[in-house]
Amino acid sequence: MSSSAASSAAARRADDWRRTHTCGELRASHVGQRVTLNGWVHARRDHGGIYFVDLRDRHGITQVVLGAQFSEAVRLSSEDVIAVTGTVVARAPANVNAERETGAIELMAERLELLSKAKTPPIDVTASDLPALETRLKYRYLDLRRPAMQKNLVHRARFISAMRAAFEREGFIEVETPVLTKATPEGARDYLVPSRVHPGSFFALPQSPQIFKQILMVAGLDRYFQVARCFRDEDLRADRQPDFTQLDMEMSFVEEEDVFALWERVLVATFRAALGVELTTPFPRLRHAEAMERYGSDKPDARFGLELRDVAAWARKSEFKVFHGALERGGRVLALNAGNVPFSRKEVEELGAIAALGGAKGLAWWKADVGGGTGPLARFAAGPLAAELMSLLSAQAGDLCLFVADAQAVARKSLNEVRLHLRNKLRLVDPKQFAFRWVTHFPLFTRDEEGGRWFSEHHPFTAPEDWSLGGAGADPGALMSRSYDLVMNGWELGSGSIRIHRPEVQERVFEILGIGPEERQEKFGFLLEALSYGAPPHGGFALGLDRSAALTAGLDNIRDVIAFPKTASAADLMCQAPAPVRPEQLAEVHIQLAGQALKKSAP
Ligand code: AMO
Ligand code: AMP
Repeated sequence: MSSSAASSAAARRADDWRRTHTCGELRASHVGQRVTLNGWVHARRDHGGIYFVDLRDRHGITQVVLGAQFSEAVRLSSEDVIAVTGTVVARAPANVNAERETGAIELMAERLELLSKAKTPPIDVTASDLPALETRLKYRYLDLRRPAMQKNLVHRARFISAMRAAFEREGFIEVETPVLTKATPEGARDYLVPSRVHPGSFFALPQSPQIFKQILMVAGLDRYFQVARCFRDEDLRADRQPDFTQLDMEMSFVEEEDVFALWERVLVATFRAALGVELTTPFPRLRHAEAMERYGSDKPDARFGLELRDVAAWARKSEFKVFHGALERGGRVLALNAGNVPFSRKEVEELGAIAALGGAKGLAWWKADVGGGTGPLARFAAGPLAAELMSLLSAQAGDLCLFVADAQAVARKSLNEVRLHLRNKLRLVDPKQFAFRWVTHFPLFTRDEEGGRWFSEHHPFTAPEDWSLGGAGADPGALMSRSYDLVMNGWELGSGSIRIHRPEVQERVFEILGIGPEERQEKFGFLLEALSYGAPPHGGFALGLDRSAALTAGLDNIRDVIAFPKTASAADLMCQAPAPVRPEQLAEVHIQLAGQALKKSAP
């Protein structure tokens, strides 16, 4: 700032209000200098006619002393914007504020100018406790004044900037792909934009730049990346926004390990530059099936143990009917050893409610002991069965062991919930540790609930492990894909795959997905055609930037690293979007409202 247009002391008019320094800049070395600061009134204290003002901008806070001559200071209120010119003076040793970077000095004001008056703000920018979420979103500009939020946005910017630089060093070319485009199948609903020029036709906002990036490979770009906005109309959660950002990339003539190695280099460089953290590579690879078996999740938090164990063999020997029933129905009996935890009986019972989040109908527990232990399972763990169960679960006497017997998916999901709950409750992890895993070898297709249709586990452009797709009559459920996820600390940070570069294989995949020839042509004809003009083998990946920025800032909601996020019901409370539009505007885009929409849009 000191090098700005306003800085040269000789050239400054005496009444120049523009800052010479930021509010975070002045130190003991500036004592004696005449400076001008601009900022917001963070706090004002009245010491019998002398006012102390904490003046704040993004860079910090400086204490300003307004002597008795500034009688108008009495009218200064929180969040007023002022300019103060004065001399930097050293504080008496007893008054030094060691917690503030500018705490050794204060600014003795000689000139005060009110640049802008503030109404009483609905958010106290100085308070450490959070205002209500609706208030924060409605008055986002005030929420963003809070130093914590400014720190988040700066962190996000640094993270993205470091990653962009890393991709450029790796020879990637940044290409922008359209926002007004055609549907991309990533599993969510599309946001549609009606066309005025083409009555009855719609653009879709991209769920990802997937098809364009593949076509860029066909076009010979070789290595593409983009900080890409994506739009998905889906149920929102802490890690999902309808409008979010990916670091999207694609590269030609590669296999999985090339993509992994590239990303490991990029992430090492990014974490070093943006966080000062040294990551260890290569990141361990974990097959999807193994992740599900050990953690009950395809996005495991690998920072701690408490892994799931199969206790079916033991359950068959026991007399517990619930366990037998589950096994007879083709289900599983899974368990985890929580260790010797000092839980009250009530706390143990409460774990049942956590397991229920995953659908479990019960959570059996056992305090292990060779003598039979305690808990609902104790009477089924008599004699040698106790020692056997302890050995299966690597349990010591007194360890709390938890069991779910149910369909495999339910048992896994429920124990995953319990495992993550115990992580938080027992503080089992270091929030500053980053445990990355490449999860590989996903199935290519999964079936819907009713078992009717096949869906792509990743997306329809993902290459199968076997280009022949198992030959005629093969079971699609048995096919493996060449997709991969990058997971960290229990979050899916990104996904990608080696793609299908052979049009006939792409056609066959569409066929398995129940997308007939006509629909194929209509939706993806341009991709199929592009692939038929010499497509290089290629693969890529997209990292969720909101998730990465949030996790690396130690936040558990991506909203806090997005300047203007939406609510859980996909609305922007500040600008009140979405909003009804005038009938003329609708007529222009050939749309007539019906039913509920018509009623709601009425002024
Ligand atoms: P995918 O759909 O897995 O893959 O998305 C990649 C990553 O984007 C982030 N993400 C989201 N972040 C915030 N809000 C959302 N609603 C949201 N949805 C996804 C996640 C996720 O891991 N085209 C493929 C990538 C590829 O194959 O190259 C794709 O979009 O961090
Ligand atoms: P019950 O015989 O129904 O009283 O259950 C005895 C214990 O088994 C209780 O602790 C239940 O929470 C537990 N339980 C019930 N159903 C299941 C299940 N499907 N898996 C694991 N534990 C269960």
